[in-house]
Amino acid sequence: MSEIIIQGGRRLEGTVRVQGAKNSVLPVLAATILHPGQTVLRGCPHLSDVEASIRILRHLGCSAQWEGEELVVDTSSMDRWDVPDHLMREMRSSVIFLGAILARLGWAEMSYPGGCELGPRPIDLHLATLRRLGAVIREEGGGLRCEAHHMAGREIALSLPSVGATENAILAACGAEGETVIVNAAREPEIEDLQTYLRAIGCAVRGAGSSTVCVEGRRETHDAVHTIMPDRIAAATYLAAVAAAGGEVELENVDCRHLSTFTAALHEAGCQVEGGEGRACLRSRERLRAIGTVRTAAYPGFPTDAQALLMAAMLRAQGSTMFVENIFANRYRHVDELRRMGADISVAGRVAVVTGVPRLYGAELRCTDLRGGAAMLVAGLSAEGVTRVGDIHHIRRGYEDPVRDLQALGADIRLET
Ligand code: UD1
Repeated sequence: MSEIIIQGGRRLEGTVRVQGAKNSVLPVLAATILHPGQTVLRGCPHLSDVEASIRILRHLGCSAQWEGEELVVDTSSMDRWDVPDHLMREMRSSVIFLGAILARLGWAEMSYPGGCELGPRPIDLHLATLRRLGAVIREEGGGLRCEAHHMAGREIALSLPSVGATENAILAACGAEGETVIVNAAREPEIEDLQTYLRAIGCAVRGAGSSTVCVEGRRETHDAVHTIMPDRIAAATYLAAVAAAGGEVELENVDCRHLSTFTAALHEAGCQVEGGEGRACLRSRERLRAIGTVRTAAYPGFPTDAQALLMAAMLRAQGSTMFVENIFANRYRHVDELRRMGADISVAGRVAVVTGVPRLYGAELRCTDLRGGAAMLVAGLSAEGVTRVGDIHHIRRGYEDPVRDLQALGADIRLET
């Protein structure tokens, strides 16, 4: 069993390059199925969720090979349309393959993904969008059997701007005859990156990044090279670490526009934040101060994925900060672990109140989920003494090598296997 061991209390200084975005590379890997040929993905992060996607692609008969930082995918030999249960369970977002397989082959089978560590994660909107395009979906024995040989473009109005449902709708619409207009689409930047990739292979998609996305289906596709956008949540993790531990760092491979609500919160807490072309600098000199209520919301609101990270940074701030988690029902599981370090956090339903304490103490912690686990690293860096973080397979889902990156910033952190 591996653990990450942190000796807290060191200021962080230096420069680190941020990895490519997990939430961009996963839908793009599913989208490679739309083109029966080769895609080269640059800046592709080495993550366990990426490996899970590669296993799905290989199961479907496609090839995927790492060449350094590049991942070369060739889907010309794809000859299956099913994703078996064990591969569906490895990664909750594997449901994104559904729209892509349907667009390519007109038929798909996969198991129904269950709940996850953040609470129930229904896929009703995913299925409704596919049905709207003409897919016939039977839900049998925990599995989904989908037939969609004659999908036709339609207007799809999402009842809420789900990221995954928007992506599934875009992918399926690429295989539908005529124009699809997705209304109340999610506006996350990763959806824009998916659009950039789809255009690179020849699909006609426009409007991503706004709440109306239009897709003209059944275009001829071709080979492409695509660079995965920077990971805004990985960037937020390192910014939170410096805010909490103190110090001055520069992050490279960052798009500051995507981090504005997060950096605004850190600025309010007393950090100096500067953004430039592809980079962000943060300086944290004094004890942070509490900030106004942080409410998670769909993009461009404050990201739910950064809630635990900001909370970890505020544990030693002067005063009380309130968090309201509006996206997921069960996203405070990291709280009990942070309390072991001496944090003062009270939770009632969707609301958590953090009252800053002068000191945190190193403790033995277990990751509860991906971002909750990253928040434990942030807290450990600002605690007195040694923090041991276990169950780090959660962290590996979304971070290429946080130990390497934090060491580069001068942290006393190591991996013990
Ligand atoms: C994506 C991100 C995840 C992020 C989340 C919200 C990826 C791979 N993952 O997840 O990191 O935390 O967006 O920003 O990009 N919902 C339904 N029915 C559905 C689909 C969603 O009720 O069919 C609900 C969910 O339960 C949740 C809300 O909609 O409460 C938002 O979920 P969604 O935007 O779909 O998140 P994901 O795409 O799963």
